[in-house]
Amino acid sequence: MTHHRIALIPGDGIGAEVLPPARQVLDAVGARRGIGFSYASYDWSCERYVREGAMMPEDGLDQLREKDAILLGAVGSPHVPDHVSLWGLLIPIRRGFRQYVNLRPIRVFEGVDSPVRTATADGVDLVVVRENVEGEYSEIGGRLNRGHPEELAVQEAVFTRAGVTRVLDYAFALAARRGRRLTSATKSNGIVHTLPFWDELVAERAAAHPLVVWDQEHIDALAAKFVLDPARFDVVVASNLFGDILSDLASAVAGSIGIAPAANLNPERTYPSMFEPVHGSAPDIAGRGIANPLGAIGAAAMMLDHLGHPEAAQDVTDAIAAVLAKTDVRTPDLGGSATTTAFTEKILQLL
Ligand code: NAI
Ligand code: MG
Repeated sequence: MTHHRIALIPGDGIGAEVLPPARQVLDAVGARRGIGFSYASYDWSCERYVREGAMMPEDGLDQLREKDAILLGAVGSPHVPDHVSLWGLLIPIRRGFRQYVNLRPIRVFEGVDSPVRTATADGVDLVVVRENVEGEYSEIGGRLNRGHPEELAVQEAVFTRAGVTRVLDYAFALAARRGRRLTSATKSNGIVHTLPFWDELVAERAAAHPLVVWDQEHIDALAAKFVLDPARFDVVVASNLFGDILSDLASAVAGSIGIAPAANLNPERTYPSMFEPVHGSAPDIAGRGIANPLGAIGAAAMMLDHLGHPEAAQDVTDAIAAVLAKTDVRTPDLGGSATTTAFTEKILQLL
């Protein structure tokens, strides 16, 4: 029996409500497919920050290093500034473990009403490949003259040849395995240094992947097309900020941010990769037991795939598709009245 060591970081708010369902699904599919999991849980969160002054301990990354994968709920609390929670946990893990690909698949499932009339089941099936360790989310910059009229803030976007090339190669290779179409998100008309460089590298890498048909769109027009004609996209590659925004937009087009999964991948497997739902800690519904667990469960499926169990991953995605297509059990964000627990029970049954 194959065995995997999984780090669980439930985090804050609904993060802690959607992770147990993901674990139940992993155990169920593992039992059937002969895959064993052992879990180590970490209470790293805003609660810990308030209690101990840090989101995670000093040697946090060392505690995770030997694990095969990390499953994360969400972090964020109204009592802690968002940049503190993000930069104290998520971003150090993504960067420390060179998880430079953030993969966000988006599908419109049968049985889910998209707010977009033209977005129908199986028409929309795309993946946003987001650059995950550089770009607009950089620590380079600073504040000057705090509190004075001439106060200023400067933040540098960082695009490196190595960093852009490796994420583009990942995206082109993924497109070659999928629908052989790739769209690059840019804004090289307005952002005059970094994004023309991005465009040049896209053209360069495209030449190395001749089977893939590709184009590029400015991010503003692309945002409009995600709403007007989401079915035309297959793989969309974007910088850190553009990919972040596009993937929330795409998951809203798919019906709810609660169903979208994400993977932070270290493709070389030198370090563990991290799997999480796209959504945050949702303080507005936390504690009510009504969070949609599908994003977290979908993230567990992506983890199975990454760990070398594509059949088990398919079992889980099939169960997600089945619960939506064949039953009317669903959480309130999808128009139902089921609790997280009841929804999870139904998925476990279908599995
Ligand atoms: P959010 O994703 O937590 O919530 C946005 C809206 O979607 C809310 O109305 C929420 O109720 C709803 N929603 C989200 N997930 C849902 C689910 N599974 N089921 C049902 N409804 C769901 O984003 P928001 O409100 O911008 O951020 C809240 C906190 O989460 C902030 O502190 C933010 O920094 C943090 N955050 C953390 C992320 C992470 O840990 N990866 C990602 C995004 C935000
Ligand atoms: Mg986001």
